[in-house]
Amino acid sequence: RRQEDPAVVRQKQLLKETAAMMHHLLVNTKGGEAALSYLTGRNLSQATIDHFDVGYVPADRSLVKKFLDSRGATYDEERASGLFVEDDQGHLFDRFNDRVMFPLKDAYGDIIGFSGRVLTKEASQAKYLNSPETALFNKRDVLFNLDQAKGTFKENGALLFEGFMDVISAFQAGVLNGIASMGTSLTQDQVGIISRQTKRLTICYDGDAPGQHAADRALALVRDHPQLQVGVVVLPAGQDPDEFIQAHGAEAFGKQLQHTLTPIGFRLNYLAQGRDMSADQEKLAYVNEALKEIAQEPEPVAQSLYLNQVSELTGVPAETLRQQLPVVSAPRP
Ligand code: UTP
Ligand code: MN
Ligand code: MN
Ligand code: MN
Ligand code: MN
Repeated sequence: RRQEDPAVVRQKQLLKETAAMMHHLLVNTKGGEAALSYLTGRNLSQATIDHFDVGYVPADRSLVKKFLDSRGATYDEERASGLFVEDDQGHLFDRFNDRVMFPLKDAYGDIIGFSGRVLTKEASQAKYLNSPETALFNKRDVLFNLDQAKGTFKENGALLFEGFMDVISAFQAGVLNGIASMGTSLTQDQVGIISRQTKRLTICYDGDAPGQHAADRALALVRDHPQLQVGVVVLPAGQDPDEFIQAHGAEAFGKQLQHTLTPIGFRLNYLAQGRDMSADQEKLAYVNEALKEIAQEPEPVAQSLYLNQVSELTGVPAETLRQQLPVVSAPRP
């Protein structure tokens, strides 16, 4: 770990103290009661809340400012922290108000920013508000929980979720290798970070249409890292991992995680979604796309499994599909 600039060390120290203050507000004060019961209502235990340093900021927009003032933070340090919004006169107001606060950490476990969740979703506000880009916080290369999870990658590989509540919920269910990108779709930088830490990646995004679309995009990115062995877990009935755990428990979730599709197996299902297989043209278009995927698979046994999968989805006999296979050419290098 390289020597850090004293200004960086100072910023990290201020964010750490701020997180500790927010955690204290959540767990020890009357003002934090509603937020704490929100979290316990979501089944988060005290131990989990402590583990992730979850906190709370109240509705008035001056508490964090007063706190950092009391710590001797300068105006420039406060501006650089990402914790404030600024008016025309340059006055600073707390960016986060009446939100449950999740500290975001770098790979060393140092706090570099925050994400705050509203307690009740109103149309006017974003559900989650993140720190803006700062010298410390560049969301394109942040992976939530990487600092903790990386220690378990050797045994289990990395498990990529869409949301950090999924990471937290999985952690509480005994699944410790979860990470998540920060609200943006997965970036090439993040895939690079993952592939330097592990040879195995499981993608477990939300079971809804946007989640499946995001999983497909993530697969396109990891294709540039052929040394990464990738699996995809598809959750049933539009649930996200947290919702699945709440509904079915830790043991059932563990079983789901064993049930991984290969990238091609995932693509074959994904490409079939929303197609009317009773319409010949749609079915033929699907078969054509599906066979292009299968043509990229070098192993005959795996090819055979995929042909059966497409056969089940279309009703076309697997042998007929196999005869068509040499006709399609592999599109990707
Ligand atoms: P989701 O909408 O799936 O949130 O967005 P979630 O993780 O299930 O959260 P809960 O269970 O409703 O609390 C996935 C991720 O997208 C980002 C967050 O990082 C979230 O974890 N996001 C979502 C935002 O940044 N802003 C938003 O308003 C919503
Ligand atoms: Mn505590
Ligand atoms: Mn989602
Ligand atoms: Mn979700
Ligand atoms: Mn959720």
